[in-house]
Amino acid sequence: MKPWRILLVIIALGAVIGAGVAAWFITASRPLAFAGHGVDLAAYHGPSPTGAPADFASADPIARGQYLAQAADCAACHTAKGGAPYAGGTAFHLPFGTLWGPNITADKATGIGGWTDAQFIRAVRQGIDDQGQRLYPAMPYAAFSQMTDADVLAIKAYLFSLPPVAHETPPDTLKFPFNQRWLMAIWGAMFNPDKRFEPRPERSPEWNRGAYLAEAMAHCGDCHTPRTLAQSLDNRRKFAGAVAAGWMAYNITPHRLSGVGAWSDAELAQYLSAGHADGRGAANGPMGEAVDLSLSHLTPSDIKALVAYVRSVPATSSGNLPPPKLDPAPALPKQGVADGFDPRGKRIFEGACASCHAWTGIGSLNPYATLTGVRAVNDSTATNVAAIVLAGAQRRTPTGTSLMPGFGHILSDAEVAAVANYVTARFGAKGSSITAKQVADLRKGAS
Ligand code: HEC
Ligand code: HEC
Ligand code: HEC
Repeated sequence: MKPWRILLVIIALGAVIGAGVAAWFITASRPLAFAGHGVDLAAYHGPSPTGAPADFASADPIARGQYLAQAADCAACHTAKGGAPYAGGTAFHLPFGTLWGPNITADKATGIGGWTDAQFIRAVRQGIDDQGQRLYPAMPYAAFSQMTDADVLAIKAYLFSLPPVAHETPPDTLKFPFNQRWLMAIWGAMFNPDKRFEPRPERSPEWNRGAYLAEAMAHCGDCHTPRTLAQSLDNRRKFAGAVAAGWMAYNITPHRLSGVGAWSDAELAQYLSAGHADGRGAANGPMGEAVDLSLSHLTPSDIKALVAYVRSVPATSSGNLPPPKLDPAPALPKQGVADGFDPRGKRIFEGACASCHAWTGIGSLNPYATLTGVRAVNDSTATNVAAIVLAGAQRRTPTGTSLMPGFGHILSDAEVAAVANYVTARFGAKGSSITAKQVADLRKGAS
């Protein structure tokens, strides 16, 4: 073959492989691919899966907008801890700089008070701001692009009904080349088809409502679905577990061992709406926030729809997660007798934890403090156990508040690692070996 022909063949092969890789990334990003083809919303004859639920039929438009803003959890990223609602300031620490959730109150100077409906829709669904600048996909516009015009505008009406708050959020500190916002146009073209939700007529109305809530609104996949190298969601492993703000967002597919296949519908519903399921554990960290700000405001019928939908995704094994151990740990061995666990971790547990968690791991005073059977305790990275020790936990219960203090300011990184490894070894299925360095990283992420 002549050299130029060989070159052509190589170029052609390169193009085919390149197109293949691009196609792989793009098809991997379709969130409802597992459910077959959908139809246009206008062509769907069932009850509408969009909007606020029927309970809100006679409510005013602002209340409906509030319900939708909560379902989409806009507050999670646009309200700083202790700050005014939606006035911005939530920090996203990325490996290459920090990004802030901006002020989305109706303040004209520092918020979005001057934005038109069209500009707002474009930002929420396409990730383009009023100046035509691209937004980073830390703002989940690839999920929100499935929302209807009516729902996006109901959210805007709600935001604009709140008092405008003058609050400037800091400019991002991303370094070159990550500060090149225009690159997000390519990302958007590949991973955000900007198409409205398409119901699946062969599925139940409840499933379709749950799919709309989970995919267009609550963006469960943004935390629970692993990402591709291009940071798009890898929906071939939909809901199979990923890292979210340093925490492990576990496998929530119906896989019996790795996922939540062994949970009953009632347990899932209780976890999503109340942030705790007896014998399964509590929602802490980013999931605790999602429950407090968003999911706990959903009506029982919407929670039921979410459960029906989560149940329907393909069961995927995570491989690295053992089934949680359910038996209580043995009672405390005699004083001075080694129990085979790390002595430093044991000493800290005795002084700082046993009063609430008991030596058996079955909370004696408070059933919420039960450690056995909890996924975090049976995860051999011990990430969430360490994160909970650092940050503490707080949850509303039917009778008050269940509270665990944070130990971040009392315990060193090495001590947090020791007690976390003690907890997983004593109460979990497999034990862990989290290091002081990993705890230090968690601390940084949480600040
Ligand atoms: C997971 C976090 C997250 C959630 C949830 C989220 N946002 Fe954002 N949003 C961001 C971040 C981060 C930015 C800034 C991105 C950037 O600077 O590129 C942003 C930017 C915006 C902007 C552009 C503001 C400006 O001044 O440029 C608007 C408008 C907006 N979000 C509205 C919403 C609405 C409405 C919701 C709920 C439906 C929502 N966001 C939910 C993280 C989030
Ligand atoms: C902001 C990130 C985030 C979002 C959004 C999110 N989750 Fe989570 N989720 C997590 C994290 C982190 C955990 C682990 C919490 C812990 O260990 O306390 C978790 C835990 C869970 C669990 C318990 C799993 C187990 O084995 O213990 C379920 C069930 C769950 N999430 C379902 C959902 C559903 C359904 C949605 C959407 C409606 C959702 N999550 C949205 C981050 C998130
Ligand atoms: C004052 C009582 C108290 C103390 C002291 C305490 N905890 Fe907790 N802990 C709780 C409560 C209550 C919960 C459940 C919180 C919730 O419902 O969100 C909890 C939750 C946890 C969880 C998560 C359980 C789940 O369901 O996801 C872990 C892990 C944990 N604690 C470990 C520790 C460790 C390790 C220490 C000592 C360094 C400690 N706790 C000290 C009361 C306490």
